[in-house]
Parts: sequence; C-alpha cells; structure tokens
Amino acid sequence: MSFKEELRTKTEEIEKLLTTYLPQETGFQKTVLEAVNYSVLAGGKRLRPLLMKETYQMFGGEGKVVEPFMAAMEMIHTYSLVHDDLPAMDNDEYRRGKKTTHAVYGEAMGILAGDALLNLAFETAAGAFDMETSPRTAKALQILSGKAGIYGMIGGQVIDTMPEEVPMTPEELEAMHGMKTGALIRASAVLGCLAACAPRDVILQADLYAAKIGLAFQIVDDILDVTETSEELGKSASDAENHKTTYITLYGVEKAREMVRRLVLEADLAVKGTML
Ligand code: IPE
Ligand code: IPE
Ligand code: MG
Ligand code: MG
Ligand code: MG
Repeated sequence: MSFKEELRTKTEEIEKLLTTYLPQETGFQKTVLEAVNYSVLAGGKRLRPLLMKETYQMFGGEGKVVEPFMAAMEMIHTYSLVHDDLPAMDNDEYRRGKKTTHAVYGEAMGILAGDALLNLAFETAAGAFDMETSPRTAKALQILSGKAGIYGMIGGQVIDTMPEEVPMTPEELEAMHGMKTGALIRASAVLGCLAACAPRDVILQADLYAAKIGLAFQIVDDILDVTETSEELGKSASDAENHKTTYITLYGVEKAREMVRRLVLEADLAVKGTML
C-alpha cells in the first residue's frame, strides 16, 4: 500500500471511531448537539489521533484503551478550532472547507458547542477507566488536561489573542506556537506511548520528536496562511488582517521554510536518539 493509501485508510478508521463517540441529535438541546457533530464531522486531517495510534502500535499497544484518548484528543482539537474561529478571536468564516460553526449556528452556539466538546472529551477519556484501572490511565488523563490547558493549548491561545503593546520577541513567538499547537501534538505522541506501556526514556524521546514536529506544523500553518488562498486551504487566511505575529512577519517565508526543514531534521534525530 502506498503512503497516501495507508493514510487514507487510517484516517477513515479514525473517522469511524470518532463517530461512535458523538452524541445523538435529540432532546431539547438538539441544536448544540448538531453543532458539535457539524464541527467534528466537517473533516480535518485527524493528525493528532493518528499520531497517538501510531506511537501506541509502535510500542506494542494492541488493545482498545487508546481509543477513548484518540477521540478525546480530536474533540479537544476541534473545540480549540471552533473557539479560535469566533468573532472575539480570529473571526473566521471558513474551516475544513465549510462555514465555521458560529457562522452556521450563531456565536452563542459556537461558544457552547466548544464547551460541550471540551466536556465530552473528558467524559470520553475517562471511559478508559472502564477498560483498565491503572495509574497509567490516570496519568494519561492528567497529561491530556494539562496540555490542553493554561500551560498548554489555552496558554498559547491567550498569548496569541493578547493585544501587543510591544512587538513579540522570537522567544515569545516560539513559546506561543509551542503551546497553542505543539502541546496537543506532544500529548498525542506521549499518550500513545504511555498507553502502550513504553519505557520512560522512549516517552521522553517521543515528546521531543513531537515538540519539533508541532512547532514545524504551526510554522507551516503560518506559511500557508500567506502562500495559499482561503479556497485552497479550506479555511480563512486571516493572519495579516488580524495583525498576528507569525514566523512570516518575523522571518519571512524563505527563512521560515528553512526553519521547518531544520526542525524536521531535528525531529528525525530525536527519534534516533541524538541531537545536533
Ligand atoms: C489547525 O490544525 C490549527 C493549527 C494548529 C494549525 P489542523 O491543520 O490539524 O486542522 P485540521 O484538523 O486538519 O482541520
Ligand atoms: C490556532 O492557530 C491554533 C489553535 C490552538 C486552534 P491558528 O489560528 O493559526 O489556526 P488556524 O490557521 O485558524 O487553523
Ligand atoms: Mg488563532
Ligand atoms: Mg485561526
Ligand atoms: Mg493559522
């Protein structure tokens, strides 16, 4: 099977898995349930659950205990996007090739659908205890909440949203990207290893690998925001309009591309256990 075919097959498997954790659209609160399903099923690369499953299998994980964490991670990621697109944040109209959640269901429902996904994520992840009661499961839950929180994704989004009195320094920008995007990608790699009972040094290696890839991923996202159209991206390109500090505003496209190449090389070396 070619890489592309394998990727498609694995992405489809994740889509199927996700669907099993999504709510039925019934009850008086039906609208928010529709908004939740709309947001999750709108598409997306499913990179984070994919990475989790890959590290899980790589270190001998065979059971289903990773599955609630895979679904929870994609729910948290999706909620972060729903809130990221809100008028109070990036104010974007398109995401994953469709209208953003708030553009379809209204701002209040966009906020609530994000809140709903965040809670559903932890309810889903806690379901892992029904399969396995071990300190590892508790640790995984702790890592998931930490990396999604104020020292992780939310922390990064806060820095991104704060008005800039003085221009952001390269260190601040790297920290912001590492938190808003790197944290969930790191947690994905780490949780897969943890669920598979990988040894501590392997988990640290996977964490370093994912930190490099996570930063590279957000730099590429910054690059694409200026090099591709909203139609090509399937989402609104709005960094310039929103006066965001990005790897493009600080370094320009060429230097940013070079930094991505270096990070990918470093990620590769992290896996091999040596650093430059
Ligand atoms: C978008 O993430 C937000 C960033 C962290 C850059 P993805 O590029 O993974 O978005 P989807 O899930 O594929 O839509
Ligand atoms: C958002 O970064 C990262 C999140 C934590 C949601 P961006 O604002 O650059 O993501 P896009 O470009 O809207 O997907
Ligand atoms: Mg943003
Ligand atoms: Mg955005
Ligand atoms: Mg972006």
